[in-house]
Amino acid sequence: MIYEAREDSFLLMKHIKNYAKGEILDIGTGSGILAKEASKYGNVLAVDIDQDALDLVKKLGIRTKKSDLFSNVKESFDLIIFNPPYLPEDQEEDEDSKKITTGGKKGHELIERFFSQVRKHLNKNGKILIIFSSLTGDVFKIMEKYGFEFRILEKEKLFFEELYVCLCKKYI
Ligand SMILES: C[S@@+](CC[C@H](N)C(=O)[O-])C[C@H]1O[C@@H](n2cnc3c(N)ncnc32)[C@H](O)[C@@H]1O
Repeated sequence: MIYEAREDSFLLMKHIKNYAKGEILDIGTGSGILAKEASKYGNVLAVDIDQDALDLVKKLGIRTKKSDLFSNVKESFDLIIFNPPYLPEDQEEDEDSKKITTGGKKGHELIERFFSQVRKHLNKNGKILIIFSSLTGDVFKIMEKYGFEFRILEKEKLFFEELYVCLCKKYI
């Protein structure tokens, strides 16, 4: 199932122009909206677990790879962009939809897996642009646990949640 761009996509997209340069990775590319924007400023690789999404993004002229986070990615990057599935599991939701919305039982599990792997894929001074929700759990604690400093670039209140766009980099 391809994630149709929503508030979170547009909120994160606004910040890409300020940080995109050199080698750029868009994880969980979906419709490719973020990869397309980033491709104005650098060389983009877009990855997803969903083959339909990859087929669509390839048609935009963007290099794609099927990968569960970094499982199939060897390179390192100047910017990594991630609009992850970040909501806690809703038992009522169908399995296909969960893949694009649900970050795990509590919501933060996929993001924790991302931060446990991302370090070696960042170039010197490499940065991460990520978005998540107040429903996701304590992502700030996860960033600190894996040695990342962060800055909240923007917050947006929706009906039942608040979205946070964060810029992260390694402490050292
Ligand atoms: C919230 S959507 C974001 C789509 C797009 N980047 C945007 O901003 O509109 C999350 C995307 O992550 C993908 N995804 C889910 N789990 C993933 C994983 N383990 N590795 C890579 N991509 C994943 C989903 O297939 C989906 O396309």
